[in-house]
Amino acid sequence: MISFAHVYKTYSGSRGQEIHALRDLNVEIARGEFVFLTGPSGAGKTTFFRLLSAYDRATSGYATVAGVRLNELAGNDLAFYRRKLGVVFQDFRLLKHKTVLENVILPLVIRGESLASQRERAMQVLEDVGLHHKAQEWPEQLSGGEQQRVAIARALIHRPGLIIADEPTGNLDPELSEEIMDLFERANAQGTTVVVATHDHEMVRRRSKRTLRLLAGQVSEAELAKGGAVWDHR
Ligand SMILES: Nc1ncnc2c1ncn2[C@@H]1O[C@H](COP(=O)(O)OP(=O)(O)OP(=O)(O)O)[C@@H](O)[C@H]1O
Ligand SMILES: [Mg+2]
Repeated sequence: MISFAHVYKTYSGSRGQEIHALRDLNVEIARGEFVFLTGPSGAGKTTFFRLLSAYDRATSGYATVAGVRLNELAGNDLAFYRRKLGVVFQDFRLLKHKTVLENVILPLVIRGESLASQRERAMQVLEDVGLHHKAQEWPEQLSGGEQQRVAIARALIHRPGLIIADEPTGNLDPELSEEIMDLFERANAQGTTVVVATHDHEMVRRRSKRTLRLLAGQVSEAELAKGGAVWDHR
């Protein structure tokens, strides 16, 4: 499903120096997998997701998702590719002039569905994230954790083949975090490939999923011991 080989993403810093947000990144994720992505702040997790969601291009290297070459995506192909993804951005990116319901239903509207025909589905997904009572509110009227759950509902509504979620439980209490991870697991059980970046090591330990650890733009595989301890495998 996801194949990155020798991928670099290089920015130029304020003094013109090169910053390698990703350096020689090699990642293989199969269709139907559920993968956690961990690593310290600044390691490159969001950069990796920006490339995966085709909001940015690699500086060099080879990156494909479901056979699509991300570096060559443009025009209609780009729009079509993005439409099939479910993305939870670290900063949510809700549209502030649309209600919660309108935000959530957006991926279906882009596909040509009407709000009226999809209202039931939208209300169901809002209920799944515990926010059906906020359907008519504006994003600015919600707490951070509520906004995050709207973003999660929007990523789930069109039953995408791939969900990438950047710290989707970063603003949630432990109980809600578990419920949200259950939703991702349910989508995964129905065939969706899921990649979740998180700093929540307890959650990673409990869920026993394949875990990739990014460090300074490079990835290492962390393995899950029988006893439940996660360690780096080098
Ligand atoms: N537009 C940019 N210009 C210059 N440097 C950038 C840019 N975007 C990201 N970087 C740098 O790339 C590195 C990786 O950033 P990234 O946002 O991918 O980290 P992250 O793993 O998501 O961190 P966090 O856990 O804090 O969200 C950082 O050192 C960051 O400063
Ligand atoms: Mg980040």
